[in-house]
Amino acid sequence: GLGRLIITLRLLVLFLWCDSCCNPLSMGAIKKMVEEEIPGIYVLSLMIGKNVVEDTENGFFKDVNEQVSMVCTQLAKDPQLKGGYNAMGFSQGAQFLRAVAQRCPSPPMKNLISVGGQHQGVYGLPRCPGEHSAICDMIRKALNSGAYSDLVQKHLVQAQYWHDPLNDDLYKKHSLFLADINQERGVNETYKKNLQLLEKFVMVKFLQDTVVDPVDSEWFGFLKTGQAKETETLQESVLYKEDRLGLAAMDKAKKLVFLASKGDHLQFTNEWFNANLLPYLR
Ligand SMILES: *[C@@H]1O[C@H](CO)[C@@H](O)[C@H](O)[C@H]1NC(C)=O
Repeated sequence: GLGRLIITLRLLVLFLWCDSCCNPLSMGAIKKMVEEEIPGIYVLSLMIGKNVVEDTENGFFKDVNEQVSMVCTQLAKDPQLKGGYNAMGFSQGAQFLRAVAQRCPSPPMKNLISVGGQHQGVYGLPRCPGEHSAICDMIRKALNSGAYSDLVQKHLVQAQYWHDPLNDDLYKKHSLFLADINQERGVNETYKKNLQLLEKFVMVKFLQDTVVDPVDSEWFGFLKTGQAKETETLQESVLYKEDRLGLAAMDKAKKLVFLASKGDHLQFTNEWFNANLLPYLR
């Protein structure tokens, strides 16, 4: 009935995958803000890594595929989510939740909101705050020496989003997470079908982002293959032209929403959030 529909739409799964190079956006503050704006909403917030120590244990060194399947199990067990839910992922949490949408259609995800997500990965770590420079240096070294070695792929989260346009074959072959969910090795029809079950896929790009390189990745664009200077939009990509993931069909059906926010990575005002993202959570 209508009552049930309204209730089931008032569910939200928040996900922030914070790492030492990301802005320490407070998930608690976002949860509170949403709860104030939409009374009675049920917010399940998932977070991996709140600080460097936890990141080192969870965020940096875990197989993302394994973590996606753990979260899928958790969502499937939650009786509140049975009728479906909206999902909002911040930074790396965004592509993580997209993997959940593609792999785990039950319970159904309705709207997916990606806030500063890197859907085509990153090629560079442009800003890593000084206080964590030892970890950042270690990550850079590991990525330069062997982002696509199995060991690094399985244990360094950043490597699982590393997209080297100069070594496209290596990326396609060995990227265990991103190349898989982006259909680089083949087209998994299940991924394509499941993603299209979304009502809306909203992608927020930060216009002055100094963390994500290239920032086009936040709208599913990336560097053109074979060089590291020129970028292409999602609509210009092979992924879209061959519609390997259903994104072209979703675009046609007006299911893709591209939003831009002034400011650096994950920086937005309450007013901006309420005006632009809240409508997708109601
Ligand atoms: C396609 O994705 C589904 C859902 O994750 C998975 O069960 C299946 O094994 C995948 N198929 C291939 C060929 O990788």
